[in-house]
Amino acid sequence: MKTAEIAQRYLDYFEKNGHTIVPSTSLVSDDPALLFVIAGMVPFIPYLSGDVPAPFPRAADNQKCIRTNDIEEVGKTPRHGTFFQMLGNWSFGDYFKEGAIRYAWELLTTPEQDGGLGFDPKDLWVTVYEEDDEAHDLWREIAGLPEERIQRLGKDTNYWSTGLPGPAGPCSEIFFDRGPAYGIDGGPATDDDRYVEIWNLVFMQYEITDVRSKYDFQIVGELPAKNVDTGMGLERIAFLKQGVDNMYEIDQVRPVLDAAVALSGKTYGADHADDVRFRVVADHVRSSLMLLADGVTPSNEGRGYILRRLMRRAIRAMRLLGVEGPTFAVLFSASRDAMKEAYPEVAADWPRISQYALAEEATFLRTLAAGSENLDASIAQAKSSGGSELSGAEAFLLHDTYGFPIDLTMEIVEEAGLTVDRGAFDTLMAEQRARAKADARSRKRQLADTSVYRDLRGRGETVFTGYTDLETASTVLGILHDGVPVTRATEGQIVEVILAETALYAESGGQVADKGVIVGPGYELEVIDVQKPVPGLISHTALVTTGEVGVDQPATTVVDAVNRRAAQQAHSATHLVHAALRDTLGKTATQAGSLNRAGYLRFDFSWGQALSDATKSEIEEIANNAVQGNLEVTTRVLSLDEAKAAGAMALFGEKYGETVRMVDIGGPWSRELCAGTHVTSSSEIGLISLIGESSVGASNRRVEALVGADAFRELATERAIVAQLSTSLKTPKDQLANRIAELSASLKAAEKKIAQFEAKALEGRLPALAASATATGPYRLVAESIGTAASGDDVRSLALQVRERVGAGAVVALGAEVSGRPVVIVATDETARGAGAKAGVLAKAAASALGGGGGGRDDVAQGGGADVSALPAALAAVGATLEATTA
Ligand code: SER
Repeated sequence: MKTAEIAQRYLDYFEKNGHTIVPSTSLVSDDPALLFVIAGMVPFIPYLSGDVPAPFPRAADNQKCIRTNDIEEVGKTPRHGTFFQMLGNWSFGDYFKEGAIRYAWELLTTPEQDGGLGFDPKDLWVTVYEEDDEAHDLWREIAGLPEERIQRLGKDTNYWSTGLPGPAGPCSEIFFDRGPAYGIDGGPATDDDRYVEIWNLVFMQYEITDVRSKYDFQIVGELPAKNVDTGMGLERIAFLKQGVDNMYEIDQVRPVLDAAVALSGKTYGADHADDVRFRVVADHVRSSLMLLADGVTPSNEGRGYILRRLMRRAIRAMRLLGVEGPTFAVLFSASRDAMKEAYPEVAADWPRISQYALAEEATFLRTLAAGSENLDASIAQAKSSGGSELSGAEAFLLHDTYGFPIDLTMEIVEEAGLTVDRGAFDTLMAEQRARAKADARSRKRQLADTSVYRDLRGRGETVFTGYTDLETASTVLGILHDGVPVTRATEGQIVEVILAETALYAESGGQVADKGVIVGPGYELEVIDVQKPVPGLISHTALVTTGEVGVDQPATTVVDAVNRRAAQQAHSATHLVHAALRDTLGKTATQAGSLNRAGYLRFDFSWGQALSDATKSEIEEIANNAVQGNLEVTTRVLSLDEAKAAGAMALFGEKYGETVRMVDIGGPWSRELCAGTHVTSSSEIGLISLIGESSVGASNRRVEALVGADAFRELATERAIVAQLSTSLKTPKDQLANRIAELSASLKAAEKKIAQFEAKALEGRLPALAASATATGPYRLVAESIGTAASGDDVRSLALQVRERVGAGAVVALGAEVSGRPVVIVATDETARGAGAKAGVLAKAAASALGGGGGGRDDVAQGGGADVSALPAALAAVGATLEATTA
């Protein structure tokens, strides 16, 4: 049975049993505490916790997931995949333990010809949470399982949570026994390679907090409803049903493994270590493909870092398999072909996906080359100094700076007959990990507590009226002070206010929050910020400027219309710039982030190199032509499928059931899903002026622009500067650039002439300087200040000429001011050096009097410093040091 067919059977079965079928969300979790969707339940957390009322009582889905905490297990066990698909059925306060067990058992054991999965009941085992008698009894009753095939286990395996504060509950897992050839008897409690977990039924009933480990947490209380969350590993069912030994050999993965085998020229199944590497490649390439398809791009932090790590591990595994050149073109194409039936986007978006994959591979291959060079140097040094070990710090540096993996370092070092101080390396890694953890913990704490908004959200979504109205009368539903619900707030307090309706836009989609006020009988609030702390709930942070506000009072929101208009000009302008970028650069220039506020926009997009001036002008012109075109801006609310069919962009991370808002400017030319507020016609934007283009990270660029009146003011200021230049240079403005080039050329020529004159003038002082030589022991010392000089070189050449003229025993020290700083040049002749005078030593003495540094050879040396007034002292110091040499 093909993987896609198993998924379809699952969904059909639950649809038949009254479940709404929900498409997978993106792999990118919109919960910032979780980088990725790590389980089927993640997109449903707001419903499971009761923060948001579930739109359906029961649902079923096939959710894409990424989990990398067991990355070291990949390829070694039959069932650890970093990307996997989790089939799930969900009950939100509808059926509970009995329903969950009944459905699971029926689907698993119904014969294939009747639409089931056709497992033999003899092969199935279950575990229940040790205290869960109810689940135990239900398994006896519904499945008729004998006592010995129901095992009771503790919290570490049979109590499920995401590891973060939130919903949790006891669970019951179903296992398939692959038979004695795969391990010892004794059921899932003893062996998890022979007894493969295929389905986890979680009875989500509690809210937990203070999660320190799988079995160490605190139960806060019951959730508002008893829910069911189940997760069936699609890849696991697939490998069992396809008669292969592990998930890397199923129809969706095996083609990548085969491609890797072909590239290596080796045989799969011949050597255990190589087999693990082939499986790592197959798994990691598929995961990377799916992440890229969901809009993740490689980088050094967060999600991008995990993607980068997967790709690098795959490259590294290929290298260990003996392939040193690029392989991604072949491997990613194989994965695309294996996945495109279930996920057509991997083929549709292939140019963008492959561009990132190939660029990352090329970069890492270069990194490996550079890291190897550094490592070779360290090895050579260790050997030449008689050492036998590479320090932990060096290995860590290679890892941290070059992304050079430790096992690669060890392998190369060992080949060279040395060892690595692995202990020290591990300590450094542990320290780094502790820092990262502390950082993540502090972020989690900030994010964890949304329960205070739950009751308010339970009363319905906040209605946003601001698309059409700038003023809306409503009622105060709740007030929070320092995160705690209160009934009133008085003058001077800053509080959060939740209303039934609001005209004020909450920050989202790059558009900043509206400014405005909230007024009611006897009070006025100044709005400082507007946010959505949980989906569907709008919270206003506001200062009570007059009177006292209370829950249930009437409240009218009034938007600052001037600010809003400018913000929407900027937001619509962002859409135009995006469309212009795609016109100029092609479809791969996709949005990576944006910000728009009154008068200004910033737009980040995936692109690898700087834009030329011509391209920037072209983008600016296309966007401004669209402004001039007076294009109509239309918004439509559609289902996700309708929006996809209409070709809307930015479909990452949308959830099923949500309707989406599609904004067109001039029809499909600029079509985006966007909840922001916009102008009604493009000409309202007025003007867009690009003010900058820069890089953000290795693979993204940023354009910035001023919009509307701000763009006009910027151009007006520039015009005034040009007019001023034109007047003062007495040149028409179209000839200004030439005129300035001419002026700077003639300035350079003049400077050169002056320098020549100065050099001549210095030469003129030669006789007097030579004549000033005084006998000091065996030396003839000249120590003079010569005023200002154009360069140190001029002083040096003069000093050499003076030395020449003074003759045998000459020690010449000339001080000068060069570009505002003191310089002393010391020159000695052969006789003086023979008698012990060293220019370097003398220059150092001068420099220390100047408060700076100096030195050089015995014949000519230079000293410098900061304090010009110390030059006489510096020259005196030369004399004194020379005398000391004589004595
Ligand atoms: N949340 C459970 C799991 O991921 C069941 O879906 O295993």
